[in-house]
Amino acid sequence: MRRRRGTWPGPERHGQYRSRAEGAEGLRGTCDDGPMPRASLDKDPRDVAAMFDAVAARYDRTNDVLSGGQDRAWRRAATAALAAAPGEIVLDLAAGTGTSSARLADSDVQVVACDLSTGMLREGRRRRPDLAFVAGDATALPFADAVFDAVTISFGLRNVADPPAALAEMLRVTRPGGRLLVCEFSTPTWRPLRAVYGRYLSQGLPRVARLVAHDRAAYEYLVESIGDWPDQVAFGRMLRTAGWSQVAYRNLTGGIVALHRAVRPVA
Ligand SMILES: C[S@@+](CC[C@H](N)C(=O)[O-])C[C@H]1O[C@@H](n2cnc3c(N)ncnc32)[C@H](O)[C@@H]1O
Repeated sequence: MRRRRGTWPGPERHGQYRSRAEGAEGLRGTCDDGPMPRASLDKDPRDVAAMFDAVAARYDRTNDVLSGGQDRAWRRAATAALAAAPGEIVLDLAAGTGTSSARLADSDVQVVACDLSTGMLREGRRRRPDLAFVAGDATALPFADAVFDAVTISFGLRNVADPPAALAEMLRVTRPGGRLLVCEFSTPTWRPLRAVYGRYLSQGLPRVARLVAHDRAAYEYLVESIGDWPDQVAFGRMLRTAGWSQVAYRNLTGGIVALHRAVRPVA
């Protein structure tokens, strides 16, 4: 039997990625409540987890404001592109508070929401206690081989220290013929949009983030990590190198976000 359900949700590994305490090395920035955890482009998992732990309660509301509500449309498009059928078993990786997982579960998909940040998981579980939330690192997934019909990751891979290793892990846990859907910030294809978007990222977004989220440091990291992420074509190459086949992408909002689809080869 290809699905080894019993091997899925293990005990939460809270200790492994415990948030760094106030003043810990590697955490920068301040906010009204004290030091604000902030990851850097080396994406140390402890810093990344601490940063998302700190923003978990306000995360979804802040996203709505910063993206002008576009994030909802992007997630809807990602879920539609995944095209998961009722009864399929899907891993929502870097699931955060489970916003996309909830939509899948409501369509009778068996979804496992996995994330590094116990703060995000806790917030997700509070909102949707019926969903399976599992703590795990994308580069060392706590699942057996070939257990999922599909894997999806939205706005998560950019935060992982070693994306090729994570793509290899996603391949391992996906059944042969199963699907991958990556939804991630990308590069606008139209030069004027690229210029306007660049200005928004460098000037507008930090200001709005200060007003609505008080998480200046975390949202500085957001801007840096978007700028550092490969464009559509380069990311497609990364997917193929990791062993995925039938790699294709579709731009959303002029390429501000791209949906990348791929399939695990059968043989
Ligand atoms: C920007 S949030 C996206 C959350 C959700 N997918 C969404 O669309 O709202 C990024 C998430 O990736 C998670 N993450 C970062 N690095 C990770 C890793 N190595 N393994 C698993 N999750 C990770 C963070 O904890 C955070 O919840």
